[in-house]
Amino acid sequence: MMYKLKKNCRLCSNNKFELILDLGKQPTSNSFLTKNQLKNSEKKFPLRLYICKKCHHLQLLDVVDKKYLFSNYHYLTSANKPIIKHFQKYADDMYKKILKEKEKPFVIEIGSNDGTLLKKILKYKVDVLGIEPAKNLARISRKSKIKTQNSFFNIDTANKISKMKKADLVLANNVLGHIDNLDEFIRGVLKLLKDDGVFVFEVPHALELIKKLEFDTIYHEHISYFSLIPLTKWFNKYNLEIFNVERKIVHGGTIRVFVSRKNNFKIMKSVDKIKSIEKNYGMNKLQTYRIFQKQIYDLKDVLNLKIKKLKKEKNIIFGYGAPAKGNVLLNFCKIDNKILEFISDTTVLKQGKYTPGTKIKIINPDNLPKKNKMIGLLLAWNYKNEIIKNEMKFLKNGGKFLIPIPNPRIISK
Ligand code: TMP
Ligand code: ZN
Repeated sequence: MMYKLKKNCRLCSNNKFELILDLGKQPTSNSFLTKNQLKNSEKKFPLRLYICKKCHHLQLLDVVDKKYLFSNYHYLTSANKPIIKHFQKYADDMYKKILKEKEKPFVIEIGSNDGTLLKKILKYKVDVLGIEPAKNLARISRKSKIKTQNSFFNIDTANKISKMKKADLVLANNVLGHIDNLDEFIRGVLKLLKDDGVFVFEVPHALELIKKLEFDTIYHEHISYFSLIPLTKWFNKYNLEIFNVERKIVHGGTIRVFVSRKNNFKIMKSVDKIKSIEKNYGMNKLQTYRIFQKQIYDLKDVLNLKIKKLKKEKNIIFGYGAPAKGNVLLNFCKIDNKILEFISDTTVLKQGKYTPGTKIKIINPDNLPKKNKMIGLLLAWNYKNEIIKNEMKFLKNGGKFLIPIPNPRIISK
C-alpha cells in the first residue's frame, strides 16, 4: 500500500481537524526524474496541511508509505557547508552540556543520515550508534567508522538495542517530522534512555513556517510541524518534560529541544519564553492559520505576476538550487519548464535529472550560460546569504535573484 489517510491527531488522538492549506496533488518532492522517466506518468498524492482542533498540532493526514520515501534517500547532511558547520557545533555543545560529566558515555542517533553529527561526537572518544533506514546512507556512515544499524526505528529495534546497552543521550534531528506513529517512537526512545538520560532533537519550528510563509517546507516527507505548546502536553503523557529549548537558524528556523524524565533537570527560562512567543503569535488560534492560507494564495499570485512581467521584459528566468521544497513551490505555483529554462544545482546526483511534476532540467552551475538578463529564482532560499556571497560575480555582471518568500522580491548588485 502506497498511501493512506490518517484519522487521528499524532499527538493527542483527537479526530477533529481544520484544513489549513491545500497544495494540490503533487509527486513526492525528492522524486527527481531521469530523462527516460520523462515519458512515464508520475505518481501524485494530495498535499494538504491540517491543524488538530484540540491540541493545535499541524500535520498532514495524507500519508505516503515510508518505504517509498526513505529506503533510498538523496538528502545528504554533509552536502551543504552551513549544515556541516551547524552539526559540528551541535556535537561540541552536546559534549559540553551533557556528555562531559559522564563516565564512558553512550550516544544513539535515530536517523543518523551520513553520520555527520556522530562523526564529530566520536572525536570526543564517546561510544556512538547510528540508526538509519536508508541503505545508501548507512553505508556512507559506516565508512566513517560509525557503528550504524540499517533499519527503521521502532519498538522492536529499541528493545533489541536497550537489552545490550542504554544511552546517556538519544538524538533525532529532522526526524520527528517524518514519523507517523509518534507514540511508538517515544516509547522506543524511553526504552533506549538511562533513567537520567536526555533526549535531544531538532525540528523546524512551526512558528517560523507560519510567520515567514515557508509553505514550501510542507511536503509528503514532513508529516508533522512542531510547536512547543502541543509538544509539552504530549510529553507530559509519558512523564517527560522539556527542560531547555534553543532556537537555531537552519532549515528556515529550527528548535533544539532537550527532554528528560520529570524532575531530573532544572527547567530553564527558555522553555516558557518560547511558549509565550508562540502564544503571542496566536499559534493556538485557528484564525492565525486562516490568515496564513490567504497569505499563501496571495504569494502565489504575486510571484506569478512578477515572473510574467520579467519574462515580458525579455529576462531569462532559471531556478537556483533544486531542493525538495523547490518542487513544492514550483508545482503549487504551476511554474514549469515553459517558464523556467533550467535549474542549477551543486548536487551531482541531481544534475542531468528533471524536477518532478514540472520537468525542468537540472544543470551543473558551472554550465550556467553567460548571457545578459539572467534572473535566478532562489528556490534554495535557506542559503540566501551564502549564495549571494558566492555569486558576487554573477551579480556584478548584471545577474539578479528573485527571492520567492515571504514576499517575492528582486535582489541585484
Ligand atoms: P536543502 O535546502 O534541502 O539543503 O537543499 C539545498 C539545495 O540547493 C541542494 O540541492 C544544493 C543546492 N545548492 C546549490 O545549488 N548552490 C548552493 O550554493 C547551495 C548552498 C545549495
Ligand atoms: Zn491533537
